[in-house]
Amino acid sequence: MFAINSYVQAKTLTEALRYKQAKPKARWIAGGSDLLIQIREGKLAGADLIAIRDIPEMSGITLDEEENIHIGPLSTFGQIAANPIIQSRIPLLGRAVDQAGGPQLRNVGTIGGNICNGATSADSGASLFVLEAVLVLSRLDQEGQLVNEEKEIGSFYLGPGRVDIAPDQILTDIYIPKEKYQNFFGHYTKYSMRNAMDIATLGCAVYARFSDDLSRIEEVRLAYGVAGPTPSRCPAAEKALVGMQPGDEAFRQLGRLALAEINPRDSWRASRAFRLQLAEELAYRSGLACFEEARLVKASGGRQAAAPQEAAALKAEPGLKQEAEQAAPGFGDERRWFMSCTVNGRPVEVAVDNRESLADMLRNQLGLTSVKKGCDVGECGACTVLVDGKSIDSCIYLARWAEGKHILTTEGLRGAENELSIVQQAFIDEAAVQCGFCTPGLIMTATEIVDSGRLYSREELRRLISGHLCRCTGYQNILNAVEKAAGLEK
Ligand SMILES: Cc1cc2nc3c(=O)[nH]c(=O)nc-3n(C[C@H](O)[C@H](O)[C@H](O)COP(=O)(O)OP(=O)(O)OC[C@H]3O[C@@H](n4cnc5c(N)ncnc54)[C@H](O)[C@@H]3O)c2cc1C
Ligand code: FES
Ligand code: FES
Repeated sequence: MFAINSYVQAKTLTEALRYKQAKPKARWIAGGSDLLIQIREGKLAGADLIAIRDIPEMSGITLDEEENIHIGPLSTFGQIAANPIIQSRIPLLGRAVDQAGGPQLRNVGTIGGNICNGATSADSGASLFVLEAVLVLSRLDQEGQLVNEEKEIGSFYLGPGRVDIAPDQILTDIYIPKEKYQNFFGHYTKYSMRNAMDIATLGCAVYARFSDDLSRIEEVRLAYGVAGPTPSRCPAAEKALVGMQPGDEAFRQLGRLALAEINPRDSWRASRAFRLQLAEELAYRSGLACFEEARLVKASGGRQAAAPQEAAALKAEPGLKQEAEQAAPGFGDERRWFMSCTVNGRPVEVAVDNRESLADMLRNQLGLTSVKKGCDVGECGACTVLVDGKSIDSCIYLARWAEGKHILTTEGLRGAENELSIVQQAFIDEAAVQCGFCTPGLIMTATEIVDSGRLYSREELRRLISGHLCRCTGYQNILNAVEKAAGLEK
């Protein structure tokens, strides 16, 4: 059980804000991948939670009539990386958030949570700084009317773990004005000790606009994560590059000049000296990568314009609802919750405790002990199950969130004649199992891969299973098994 004092789940923005008026110290919870860990670690034990994950107005990625990009704060890293508006207009951000955690985490972690937890290492941070994103913070006034305040991301971070949001406010929109992204090319480089499941030792984003003939830098923006207590820009270095010829010399200079504007610290991950060296090198490499992309785009006849219907279709999504509800809601009096969902193809009705993780519910109430608990903090992947076809770490996913969803565990993979699934069989054939503790989780991720019907290279498969730790088999046999299963007809 998580040490949660009370929990409510809001269905509309107004409802969420009314809950907050009733209990100002309560915390918003979206994907929970930061908050539940802090509760588990005791830092936020006893918290009151207001879940905002089901509020439709705060989801989705849209273009408005002026072609400003609006990103709902509940958009997960996975949704952002796969979104066509992001891919065609600000691919920098999609690529940055695609480097966060592992696949299971990217299915639950939201961009709103990533910003609002105030971490300097947030993978969206440096990119949103160079995009000069604008944040919309909403609250209810005394008459119950919605009041929106806009804040530039550059002034949102106050210090480690602290952002400029009042207790009665909630982040409802992140938007990138068209003039801030049009004709820019960007690159984010994350340096971390592992390629997955590790936060940045240093993150660096460069965003640049060049003259038509690519002979001059017209504007460049440079931002870092983990080069100080909050993400930060380097305005003097940026200014010095305007008018220079893009290339080796200019971007080396960008890196050198940036050193005077950052202040990284020593930590167990890396020394200050190493971070300074990284900062210089990553600015250079990221700058060159922007220029290389600009050259490629120019050589191929310009950027693909977004299809006109893309803007039209996506614009239609509703904006924030303005109407306030009359009655102030009760708070946190629904500790046990009767929930219907489908588990391994069977409809299930179960009473869950609001503090219970899905892993605990599946193991303790339904006896599905293939769901292993290794770390219990989202790091090892042993508890992976599929929720509506997507892999998640069920140890940091509240059971309550599975309401109305389809859950699949390894127990549900056997066929009508009790035969093993092709993934299970492939794990046996390729000797991809020793103690077996990590195996059910890996099998679920492999099942998601196979069910996608897509073909992947071995490198891509390696990345797709990077949210799992195995301490005895080694990854070669596991990869062989996944590759074998993914190449077979179902
Ligand atoms: C194993 C593991 C690996 C990770 N790796 C990375 C990584 O590589 N890179 C990285 O950047 N992060 C990483 N994280 C951190 C985390 O996944 C991200 O910060 C994620 O984006 C948090 O989003 P969430 O929706 O889960 O936030 P939650 O935990 O729900 O919330 C986080 C904070 O934001 C507040 N909040 C959430 N939404 C709003 C809103 N709309 N308005 C106001 N406040 C809000 C909450 O009150 C809370 O204080 C990792 C976490 C884990 C567990
Ligand atoms: S990730 Fe859930 S038990 Fe380790
Ligand atoms: S088989 Fe033992 S941890 Fe993977």
